Amino acid sequence: MYTTLLFDVADGIARVTVNRPDKLNALNAEVIRELGEAAAEIERNAEIRGAILTGAGPKAFVAGADISEITKQDPVSGRARALNGQAAMRRFERCGKPVIAAVNGFALGGGCELAMACHIRIASENAKFGQPEAKLGIGPGYGGTVRLPRLVGRGRALELLLTGAMIDAQEAYRIGLVNRVVPADTLITECEAMLKTILANGPLAVRTCLESVTAGADMSLDDALAFEANLFGVLSGTEDMREGTAAFLEKRAAAFKGK
Ligand code: COA
Repeated sequence: MYTTLLFDVADGIARVTVNRPDKLNALNAEVIRELGEAAAEIERNAEIRGAILTGAGPKAFVAGADISEITKQDPVSGRARALNGQAAMRRFERCGKPVIAAVNGFALGGGCELAMACHIRIASENAKFGQPEAKLGIGPGYGGTVRLPRLVGRGRALELLLTGAMIDAQEAYRIGLVNRVVPADTLITECEAMLKTILANGPLAVRTCLESVTAGADMSLDDALAFEANLFGVLSGTEDMREGTAAFLEKRAAAFKGK
């Protein structure tokens, strides 16, 4: 049972909602612990084929790490906080199933970092992004200095990290931080529609795309290409590849089994 999250599953899609709207869904230690559990559940539950991560209420996705906890930390507990948060977010990134961040408002600090650990980000028109940690005299601890430059390039990342400036959804789209911007009232249905498109494809193919992009990003070009070729070889032994290619040649829809 979760106390800080809402977690439900329908039609193979898990919806995870950070549920502290009175604190703009700030990430305290309990939220981080439960996010790690939710990611593990998504990974191991075969009924779940993809996930949407969002925040409760109309204002915030997640407005950052809980500043009331940060103010009390020392070097040892601060490092532990960063490692715990990083591990929970990495778990979503490596869960093997597509995870879409439905960014419904402020995604600041740890909120922006959580969104970046998801595979795809769809923002509502009222969403706002930023890494304001430097304004608090601290730095990002949940991967902000690592994933942001990988997503938007070093110069733009450093501008956001060093100024602590907040940007709106359109600017986030322009710099490649989000995939799409949609009206707030269609955010979840747009995320579900994209997930359904993904889930209609071969499940093993989807999984290997996630693996290849996530692991390959940290390899040399030659190692990443070799990794991709190996996954391509593995997929070549699957029933799904035979079914997908046969369905194309026979001009019919494929019926994938994930085998
Ligand atoms: N940690 C803890 N509490 C937070 C929080 C955070 N990161 N972000 C918001 N809250 C709390 C506020 O303290 C307030 O609680 P209160 O009602 O008990 O006083 C409540 O959430 C509502 O926030 P409030 O600041 O009143 O809303 P706002 O609309 O005026 O401003 C923000 C919204 C997002 C601009 C502002 O809350 C903010 O700057 N938050 C911190 C963002 C940040 O620096 N994140 C990185 C942390 S490392």
